[in-house]
Amino acid sequence: MTTLHDKVPAGLDRKEAEVYRRLDPRRLPQHIAIIMDGNGRWAKRRHMPRVAGHRAGVAAVRSTVETAARIHLPALTLYAFSEENWKKRPASEVGFLMGLLSRYLKAEVPTLNKNNIRLEYIGRQHELPPDVQERMDWARDATAGNSGMVLTLALNYSARSELVDAFQSIMDAAARNGGAGHLRIDEDMVSRHLYTRHLPDPDLVVRTSGEMRLSNFLLWQLAYAEIYVTPALWPDFRGVHLLEGIAEYQKRERRYGGLNHHDAHAPETAKA
Ligand code: FPP
Repeated sequence: MTTLHDKVPAGLDRKEAEVYRRLDPRRLPQHIAIIMDGNGRWAKRRHMPRVAGHRAGVAAVRSTVETAARIHLPALTLYAFSEENWKKRPASEVGFLMGLLSRYLKAEVPTLNKNNIRLEYIGRQHELPPDVQERMDWARDATAGNSGMVLTLALNYSARSELVDAFQSIMDAAARNGGAGHLRIDEDMVSRHLYTRHLPDPDLVVRTSGEMRLSNFLLWQLAYAEIYVTPALWPDFRGVHLLEGIAEYQKRERRYGGLNHHDAHAPETAKA
């Protein structure tokens, strides 16, 4: 008998198809955010320089992005470089990451177009090297007509800086509209001033390499997200791991501060 679950999207490999069959395609997360961690440790284990881990991380990005697009995930956000990365890592490593990003964008645009993926960015883009900014603008423009998955790269990103910029943007808008006296602030309004105004809040955040931290990533937007931590180091992460994260997500019961289904329907005495 053929069920809905047997319909595996084209392009998934055998292992991915195996995990996909366990998923309910009607309950996919609408937005997954990933903290890509462990490149340095991956390289160290192989007695290689840290940058070799970043280079290997690009293959993980490719696999994850393609699988996400193939299953028709509406939005994927990748934490590529934090604002803190710039300040606290040697200039040589930062320079290498910049070059890697530039080359990735140039090489990947045809694949992004083939998969109908639209590229966006979050973070203080204006602080990045001008040639990298140009390449980023070029790649965004080259994919702007695509209507499938939105791939957002967090570059020079910090959630606290994003909130600071949102408060400033709210004040600027108020100044243009008759002053702070007319300001009415609510959650929707704050959301509209965040870098992520083009996205729904993530339903699922994935972190690799076993660390249990949010590291200043999407602090407002992750308020109700499910958290999935995998021990895999980022360079070893592939599309199949993303699907495993979604399988785990689908086992969870999201309550948004309410009661679970059973308690909500149980008589008062049963809960005492
Ligand atoms: C974290 O590993 C990873 C980064 C700081 C950089 C992520 C960059 C890539 C995956 C490649 C380029 C990205 C794109 C979008 C092309 P870490 O160095 O903090 O690892 P560690 O904690 O083991 O030291």
